[in-house]
Parts: sequence; C-alpha cells; structure tokens
Amino acid sequence: MKRILIVGAGGQIGSELTQFLRKLYGESNVVATDVRECKNLSENGPFAVLNALDANSYGYTVNKYKVDTIFNLVALLSAVGEKDPQLAWNINMGALMNSLEVAHQYGCALFTPSSIGAFGPTSPKDNTPQDTLMQPTTVYGVCKVTGELLSNYYHLKYGVDTRSVRFPGLISNVTLPGGGTTDYAVEIYYDAVRKGRFTCPIPQDVYMDMMYMPDALNACVQLMEADPDKLIHRNSFNVTSMSFTPEIICAEIRKHLPDFRMDYKIDPVKESIARSWPNSLDDSCARQEWGWKPKWTLEEMTADMLKVISERFGKER
Ligand code: SER
Repeated sequence: MKRILIVGAGGQIGSELTQFLRKLYGESNVVATDVRECKNLSENGPFAVLNALDANSYGYTVNKYKVDTIFNLVALLSAVGEKDPQLAWNINMGALMNSLEVAHQYGCALFTPSSIGAFGPTSPKDNTPQDTLMQPTTVYGVCKVTGELLSNYYHLKYGVDTRSVRFPGLISNVTLPGGGTTDYAVEIYYDAVRKGRFTCPIPQDVYMDMMYMPDALNACVQLMEADPDKLIHRNSFNVTSMSFTPEIICAEIRKHLPDFRMDYKIDPVKESIARSWPNSLDDSCARQEWGWKPKWTLEEMTADMLKVISERFGKER
C-alpha cells in the first residue's frame, strides 16, 4: 500500500482509519473521501467529496491520485437498513460494485468490511466457524454475504486483490456509529459518563462479538499487508476480540462507576437482529493465515473508553 483511497471516510471506521493510515504511510498518501465535506479529514491530508455511487467520479478520483489500494467503507448498518431495505441494497451494493469495477480497471487492491451480520439464525451460534451456513435475515446481512461472494468472484475471474474481515460490533470514542445493532456498546459508555445511567435496547442475556477500534485498525492494515500466498481465504475472515452481553458490560462499567444504573427498553427490531447473530466467532483462520491477534480485552477497553470520554466531557472520575 502506497497510495490509498478511503471511500466513506467520514464514518465510524473511516474517521480513525484515515488518521491511522496517514501516520503509517504519510499524510499525502492517504486520500479521504466522503459524500460530504469532513473538516477533520481535510486538515492534514488530501480530501475529496465523492459519492461512491457515481462510477465516473470514482474512477476519476482513483486515476487523479494514482491510487493502488481502496478501503470501501460505505454502508448503511443493520437496524437502519431494515427501515428501507431497497435503499440499503442500493447504497451497500452500489458502492461495492463501483469499488470492484474501479479496482479492476485501475489495478487496485480492495478492502471492504464484512460483518457478523453476514451470519443468520441457521449458522452455529457458538464458536461460529469460518466456513459455515450463512443465511442472514437482514438486508444488511444479505448485502454482506453477496459482497463476500462478489469480491471472491472478482478475485477469481479478474485477479483483483480483494480482502475482507467480518467485523464484530466496533467500539470507539471518536465518531459514533449510527443505525447498527451493536451501537449500544458504544452509547453505554457515553451515557455512563454523562448521565450515570443507560437505557439498553438489547436484552440482558444476548451475547454478541465486539472489538475495540485500535484492534480493528490493526486488522485492516495487517490483512492488506499479508503475504497473498498465505491467504487461503479472502472474503471474508472471522475476527473477534471479545464477546459479552449488556449485563456483562454493565458490570464492567460499575467497577469504575459504582453508581451507574442500567434499565431496559427493548427495541424489537434490534432484538431480533441480535438474536439471529452468533454469540462468538471462531477466528482461527485469520490467526493462522495472517497472524491476527487482538490486544484489547473488555476490561482494558472499558478503562480506556471511560478515561477518554470523561476527559472529553471534563468529568472527574
Ligand atoms: N455493527 C454492525 C451493526 O450493528 C454490525 O456489523 O449493524
């Protein structure tokens, strides 16, 4: 990776991945793009407004900056996708198809995240294997499975260097996620610091895989830098750092904020999505094929999240 383009850079992953890659590869070598202006991304490196659904502008931008690697981060998340499935399909698949075509045309490597949402109620729940039944029941998941297959197809048919990981819920403190089923695990930290209480939309006993953003950023770089001869899989690798329920994360926060209170107001859409996803993934293929090894545990992440958010909002702890 020498000249990188990030599409959808204004979102939860992109806003941190842009800065992470700029530190690693040089500020001028990482071009951030989004459908709208993003001040935080244009201050220390190249930025362009780009609608990933506009194939001509996409190709023009890749050509202009002589890009060799694309990170396609454009996606509507799972819960919001259920409100307008056609829009979710058009955005998620439209951005992917254009990314694949442009990568093919200009000889770029392409990273597109997949998700735990690619699994469904018929997949094994615990230690969900890398290669298993995938029959998701959300439009988001249908897009992810289709995207995995299409990305493998472009690799097999045209030799495009497509790679991907199935991210679990990502927890971060820079840009909020929006419209995801796992968003509660980010919001809980903000509400714990600012209000001392949180109303949880997910039932107390539902496990989902999660990961702290620093591990997710490392996964992106490590996979894209991996020796292609060692990759048996490409689209997409199971990766995880931790798996917990709302009850477990609440107990962890209480170790720092003993007065923290949590109650429940279950969101039926999010509940049914969460219950259709795995409890925990088996990520041994990622470990074997490209050395994946997460660093952050729930304990360490909680301490860090509460520290950073407290400092930002000027709260004593
Ligand atoms: N975080 C995503 C969501 O909840 C899953 O990848 O939709």
